[in-house]
Amino acid sequence: MDGNGRWAGKRALKRFLGHQQGAESVQFVVETASRINLPFITLYAFSLENNLRRPKSEVNFLMKLLRSYLMGNVKRMNDNNVRMEYIGRIHELPSEVQDTMQWASEATARNTGTTLTLALNYGSRSEIVDATRAVITGLIAEAHQRGCSLEDLLQVDGLEARLDEHHICDHLYTAHIPDPDLVIRTSGEQRISNFLLWQIAYSEIFITDRLWPDFRGIHLLEAIQNYQKRERRFGGLGETFTDEDLDQLEPASEVAEEIVTELTPKQLTPR
Ligand code: FPP
Repeated sequence: MDGNGRWAGKRALKRFLGHQQGAESVQFVVETASRINLPFITLYAFSLENNLRRPKSEVNFLMKLLRSYLMGNVKRMNDNNVRMEYIGRIHELPSEVQDTMQWASEATARNTGTTLTLALNYGSRSEIVDATRAVITGLIAEAHQRGCSLEDLLQVDGLEARLDEHHICDHLYTAHIPDPDLVIRTSGEQRISNFLLWQIAYSEIFITDRLWPDFRGIHLLEAIQNYQKRERRFGGLGETFTDEDLDQLEPASEVAEEIVTELTPKQLTPR
C-alpha cells in the first residue's frame, strides 16, 4: 500500500491525509476481492520498520486510523462475507489497538468469503526468526516430555526429519493460508521490502505506478487480468515446453564452435 505520502505531497497536503485516503482504497479493493470470490487478500499495512523508523506522531496516527477503520467497517465486512485476520508481531501494538483488532476478527470470524489479512507490525525476516524459534521450542518441549536430551531426540529421527521446509511453513504466521499467486506493488516501487519473503518464492509480481490512495477495485482486476495471461513455471519448463521442443534444439556439437568463436568473451576462450 505504497504512495500515501506521495499522494498527499502532490496535493500539498499533510502525509496523514494520504493515509486517510489510503484507508478508503482498502475498502474498495476488499469489496472487489469479495465480489470476484478471491479467497485471500493480504495487505501490507504497517511494517516493523514503519513502526521503528517513522515519527511517533505518524505511528500514532496510523494506529488511530486502523482502529477507526476497523470500528467503522466491520458491518461492511459482514455484508460482504469478509473475514478479518492479521499477521505480524501483533502483541507489540498498543493494547487498545489489539483489543479492537481482536473484536473485528471475532465479529467477522463466521464469514466464509474472502479472508482479508492485514500485515501489521510485520516483517518477513522476523517472521522466519519467530518460526524457527517456535520449531526449536517445540523440539525442546518434546525432548523434555520424553525425558531425553534434544541431542538424543534428534539422533532418533535425524535432523532432516525434524526440520524441513514444511516445519518452517507450519510455523509461519501464514501457516493457514496458501502462498500468494500475485503480489501487487503500488507507486512504482521495484522492491519487496521484507514482505512474505518465504511465501512469495514463486509469486508473480505486478508493479503499477498508481499510488495506493488512487488504487481501486478496477485496478485490482487489471492486475489479475495481467496475471491470468502469464505462464507460471515454478522452476520447471512450463506447460507449453515439451520434450519435442528439446528434440528440436540444434545438437550442441553443431553449435559448439560458433559459441566458442562468437559468444565467449575473449578471456574465457579455451586455449
Ligand atoms: C505506505 O505509504 C503506507 C503506510 C506506511 C501505511 C498504510 C496504512 C493505511 C493505508 C491506513 C491504515 C490501514 C488500514 C488497513 C486501514 P508511505 O507513507 O510509505 O507513502 P510514500 O511511499 O509515498 O511516502
